[in-house]
Amino acid sequence: MNLSSRRFLVRDRTSLSHARVEAIVGSFSTIADYHRYLRGTYAFRSAYEEAMAGFDWPADLPPLDHAPQLLPLLRQDLGDLGLQPPAMHESLLQVSDRETLLGTLYVAEGSSLGARILYRRAQELGLTGEFGARHLFAQSESLTRWRQLVKLLDEAPELDLDRLVAASETVFAAVGGAFERLQDA
Ligand code: HEM
Repeated sequence: MNLSSRRFLVRDRTSLSHARVEAIVGSFSTIADYHRYLRGTYAFRSAYEEAMAGFDWPADLPPLDHAPQLLPLLRQDLGDLGLQPPAMHESLLQVSDRETLLGTLYVAEGSSLGARILYRRAQELGLTGEFGARHLFAQSESLTRWRQLVKLLDEAPELDLDRLVAASETVFAAVGGAFERLQDA
């Protein structure tokens, strides 16, 4: 397979899941919608960070730049708006090899692309990088890690793309689950 098409293959095969997540996250036109977005994002990011923390970066893969620490910023955003972090649930996310690592990172880092749009929407609600939308500002500030990840995805030898895409799908499902559980709470 032409290596440079891997990222686009993953994008094509997960596009339905992205559309589903976009619909679940919704466009926050009111501050109440934003509160829900913040709580759902916190729940998802907590599960994601936990899955990543248990995995050692493979020695044969070039590391990505240091990630911005989104969880502390999300906690501050919640605090700014007088909200509590949501209760945590058991997570399906598991990072255990190169395929699950790259499939998981594809979704987490790719979300920086959408974050630029979300930050503009948050600004329309009066939020800023210093109040309420700190994590979105940090996330949308740089696409360096996303670009490094795409390069890594395209250049890594011998990847089982079916398993990689399955890992991405699991992550998208985890985002959806985190938001849906808020409605049940
Ligand atoms: C309402 C919420 C969202 C909107 C409006 C949105 C919007 C977008 C847009 C416009 C792009 C493409 C940007 C470009 O091609 O330059 C994108 C890409 C992406 N988004 Fe979202 N997004 C949202 C939520 C999410 C969430 C919650 C995640 C995952 C946690 C996510 C993961 C991704 C990924 C992985 C890509 C990269 C696709 C690729 O080009 O390979 N998005 N998003």
